[in-house]
Amino acid sequence: MTAPFRTTPRPGDRAAVRRLVADAGVFSETEVGWAVEVVDTALDRGAAAGYHFLFAEGEDCLEGFACFGPIDGTANRFDLYWIAVARTAQGRGLGRRLLESSMDAARALNGTHMFIDTSTRADYAPAHALYRTLGFEQMGTLIDFYADGDGKALFGRKL
Ligand SMILES: CC(C)(COP(=O)(O)OP(=O)(O)OC[C@H]1O[C@@H](n2cnc3c(N)ncnc32)[C@H](O)[C@@H]1OP(=O)(O)O)[C@@H](O)C(=O)NCCC(=O)NCCS
Repeated sequence: MTAPFRTTPRPGDRAAVRRLVADAGVFSETEVGWAVEVVDTALDRGAAAGYHFLFAEGEDCLEGFACFGPIDGTANRFDLYWIAVARTAQGRGLGRRLLESSMDAARALNGTHMFIDTSTRADYAPAHALYRTLGFEQMGTLIDFYADGDGKALFGRKL
């Protein structure tokens, strides 16, 4: 049996999430900063921040995490803000478990839909494959959104 994910952020997650997201290999330094900011906001504001986490603990480091939450002003729609698995732990089903558990947790919070913004870049192909495997469809693309040749891909599904 696999261990359940930890859901409450701890101060040590600032550094652990920074390491994990930087190690994932696709995020810019600015994006790494945003991931840490999400943890900081949740540590400061607690449940009022609207961020929900799943942390996958490895032997001696954080192996993966997901962060999702309700989208303000929508009828029970949720956003998956972050999902990342350390390079050394990839390809073993952890990303799948993190996303399935995020969907289950969103359903338990009355979520009816989940959306994910991601990049059209080739190095995001594993993420696109994960989303499609779990029933997400690419619902739109904003060409050149992030930079020339780097668009925004919008994935979503009913929960
Ligand atoms: C995307 C990511 C979270 C997947 O995590 P993972 O633990 O390696 O994924 P899993 O082993 O659970 O794979 C689940 C499914 O995803 C797909 N997948 C994952 N990696 C893949 C790859 N390299 N190539 C093709 N498909 C892949 C497969 O469909 C796989 O299903 P299968 O095991 O039945 O073949 C991981 O690659 C990652 O952290 N990438 C960098 C960060 C990132 O891109 N995050 C998303 C930003 S929007």
